[in-house]
Amino acid sequence: MDESPPPLRFDFLVLGSGIAGLTFALRAARAGRVALVTKKNRADSNTNWAQGGIASVWGPDDTLELHVRDTLEAGAGLCREDVVRSIIGEGPARIGELMELGAHFDDREDPAHPGRRELDLTREGGHSRRRVLHAKDATGAEIERALLQAVASEPNIAVYENHFGVDLVTTAKIGAPGPNRCVGAYVLNPAGNRVELFAAAAVILATGGCGKVYLYTTNPDIATGDGVAMAYRAGAGVANLEFVQFHPTCLFHPRAKSFLISEAVRGEGGVLRGTDGTRFMDRYDVRAELAPRDIVARAIDSEMKRTGADCVFLDITHKPARFIIDHFPTIYRRCLEWGIDITKDSIPVVPAAHYQCGGVITNLAGETEIPGLYAVGEVACTGLHGANRLASNSLLEALVCAHRAADRLLVQRPEPFTGPLPPWQTGDATDPDELVVVSHNWDEIRRTLWDYVGIVRTDKRLRRAEKRLGNLQEEIREYYWNFRVTSDLLELRNIAMVAELIVGCALQRPESRGLHYNLDHPKPDPAWAQRDTVMRRTR
Ligand code: SIN
Repeated sequence: MDESPPPLRFDFLVLGSGIAGLTFALRAARAGRVALVTKKNRADSNTNWAQGGIASVWGPDDTLELHVRDTLEAGAGLCREDVVRSIIGEGPARIGELMELGAHFDDREDPAHPGRRELDLTREGGHSRRRVLHAKDATGAEIERALLQAVASEPNIAVYENHFGVDLVTTAKIGAPGPNRCVGAYVLNPAGNRVELFAAAAVILATGGCGKVYLYTTNPDIATGDGVAMAYRAGAGVANLEFVQFHPTCLFHPRAKSFLISEAVRGEGGVLRGTDGTRFMDRYDVRAELAPRDIVARAIDSEMKRTGADCVFLDITHKPARFIIDHFPTIYRRCLEWGIDITKDSIPVVPAAHYQCGGVITNLAGETEIPGLYAVGEVACTGLHGANRLASNSLLEALVCAHRAADRLLVQRPEPFTGPLPPWQTGDATDPDELVVVSHNWDEIRRTLWDYVGIVRTDKRLRRAEKRLGNLQEEIREYYWNFRVTSDLLELRNIAMVAELIVGCALQRPESRGLHYNLDHPKPDPAWAQRDTVMRRTR
């Protein structure tokens, strides 16, 4: 591997190309040059996989108060109400802009005014009103399409595909004088087999979540917690990582990897049945299938454990076939590929890791504890989701906070760092000798989290996970320093770090709240209401 060339200099460096990264880039490009670094293809993002939609107060029977109430209720006492109000309040304006950019959401004839069109709002668990804007069952892909189209015609944005953020560069780390600030990042360009230095006046982490830390997930392969790991290594605080949301309905099929069955299927009347065909959700919650996700996922887990079944079934066959195919064309097509006709057959489903509710601590403008470092979208912890995210609030948060981060920077106009920036040092590192170390450790981390840090936890399981992850971390660190970096090794290093942080946060919380359910402390503890679990690097 060659020594790095001189730094590539930009005003803004954005890591990640989902709704958060693209929204920020488009707005910030008004004021300066933006580098948009993405580790795969520009359309490979969690956003692109989002089926359900984007929640916002839109319908005539809905109000800000109702959406706020539903969000706070799902968040189980840990949301920050000021943040909830602010993000939800700004939703309609930001979504309007998204539509002006060309994003199309489904509409229908307004029953009260024949001949007029209105948005077709769907419903998901925890929502007391229909308020989810959607594009069939591929909403994220439609938003991503519209944003990427706009980015393509923006000359101030340079997109670097297949580039992988390695670590952030801070002035404290390079020993520069003055108060600490983030001034760029080292980025692996696997094609050129070198680590390049991107320098910028502000760095924006928009890297999404960490579903791949679990053996079973609804997330794409890219979801390896890179932003949380990088921010933590740089010294930023992270919070509430114990709140991993398990989506109740991931398709259970030996050949189907990570395929989500949208909560909107339940929103439109789908019911959950055990292997004997009987419904069970009404035994767990009066809202039955439309209870918040933590409740539904735990109920499914408990039914599977009680009956020894490998899965439960989601049944929407009572709806007309035309309705099902029209509302859920992607799910219909994909299930048919695996021999399941959802208009006639119940869908075998299991819960799987879906969303990281905690993350890098930020304010509403995405500012982290390190000046110059921003985090937006799933990577961030703003206080909106609390202990359990309300369905479809995440695209909304990403959109609003990315816009605010850009506006903050357009006002602040931070000066670029002009001091010397050390290039990446390869030192004595050689090519990796045994790639089996990487694949074995990947697998072990994901199984450890699934078995010991899943939907139902105990103190003993968490301690066991802590110990195993500690050993794995040591091995990975040694491997990292001895061998040249590859994207697989970087992802392994990041999932190991995030796994440790999830366990660390879970061990800090001696209660059950929202998505964190611990059999040794089965009730919420009022002393922990409104208390975040925070981790900061000490060594
Ligand atoms: C879904 O379609 O069920 C996912 C929506 C979300 O996670 O917000």
